[in-house]
Amino acid sequence: MKIGRVTLPSPFAVAPMAGMTDSAFRRLVKRHGGCGLVVTEMVSSEGLVRGIDRTLEYAEYTEEERPVSIQIFGGDPEKMAAAAQIVEGMGADIVDVNMGCPVPKIAKHNAGCSLMREPAHAAAVIGAIAKAVKIPVTVKMRAGWNDGDRNAPTLAKMVEDAGAAAIAVHGRTAAQSYTGSADWDLVARIAGEIGIPVFGSGDCVEPTQVVDKLQAGVDGVLVGRGVLRNPWILAQADDLAAGRPMRAVTLRDRGQFLLDYIALLQHERVDESRATSHDRWVINKLRALATYYTKGFENGSHLRTAINSAQTLDAVRDLIANFFFAESRVPVETA
Ligand SMILES: Cc1cc2nc3c(=O)[nH]c(=O)nc-3n(C[C@H](O)[C@H](O)[C@H](O)COP(=O)(O)O)c2cc1C
Repeated sequence: MKIGRVTLPSPFAVAPMAGMTDSAFRRLVKRHGGCGLVVTEMVSSEGLVRGIDRTLEYAEYTEEERPVSIQIFGGDPEKMAAAAQIVEGMGADIVDVNMGCPVPKIAKHNAGCSLMREPAHAAAVIGAIAKAVKIPVTVKMRAGWNDGDRNAPTLAKMVEDAGAAAIAVHGRTAAQSYTGSADWDLVARIAGEIGIPVFGSGDCVEPTQVVDKLQAGVDGVLVGRGVLRNPWILAQADDLAAGRPMRAVTLRDRGQFLLDYIALLQHERVDESRATSHDRWVINKLRALATYYTKGFENGSHLRTAINSAQTLDAVRDLIANFFFAESRVPVETA
């Protein structure tokens, strides 16, 4: 599987998720295997061009994450091209353009999914970026803005003509946000209609679903919330796709993942404005992940509530140890 001249070791990738797919999380997923590409959280083109420290932090990555794609958002072709050049200068393998974010704060600046409402302008943004950089340019879009305007097939062709090297389609409209379900028939149709690779995105929470989607005709699968619930999902999908038995994940593995995440986050560089202290920032990150990570197993909601009320990192570590490592597990106190 190739995007431009970048070879991906697997067609399964971590979807970009603001607030979630930080470098520490991406590194851990990558270490577990099966991950062909990681995409950063979305990064403001405006912030990159102005050199804002906090924005640059979102674009940081480590060598072990390669191949890595940095996702940028914005609506101004010149600024987006300049931001893409900064991303290229940072050594990213791919620059990805966000045309899927439905959040009004982003959409009102003619960025994110609102670009889909003006396809000619959206294609001009991609054209400007493709001219400005040598690395492949990719686009992540939704099915369309709303049900009356499901124009992803048209826009996909237009951005291909403008120089995009691959696209990803989350098969929901902006109006749907995260309700209903992703339209994978639409995604497979687009994959059949254009020449560049097409990734599908939406609703894969089981490794079998990831493999099924690939077999239904897309070139790759971006997994979002499924990776937050189960960081081994790409490795397990890779096992299944290769005809191997799917690797087992023990409760202990799940606990160790959280401890490893805490350890990596403790060494991250963080702008002071992001929390009252570094420990507080790490606790907030753990709480955000726990929202997803504790779904789908016994007493998960109790662990989530307990992490939400823990005040120190030691308390969070104790909760994890008690929940995942205790020989005969004691129910988590929900205090
Ligand atoms: C918390 C969260 C943050 C997200 N942030 C981004 C983002 O920054 N850029 C983007 O293109 N998509 C973003 N998405 C959308 C995901 O990349 C993905 O397309 C969507 O969640 C559907 O896939 P899933 O069902 O596998 O989660 C986000 C989704 C979630 C849940």
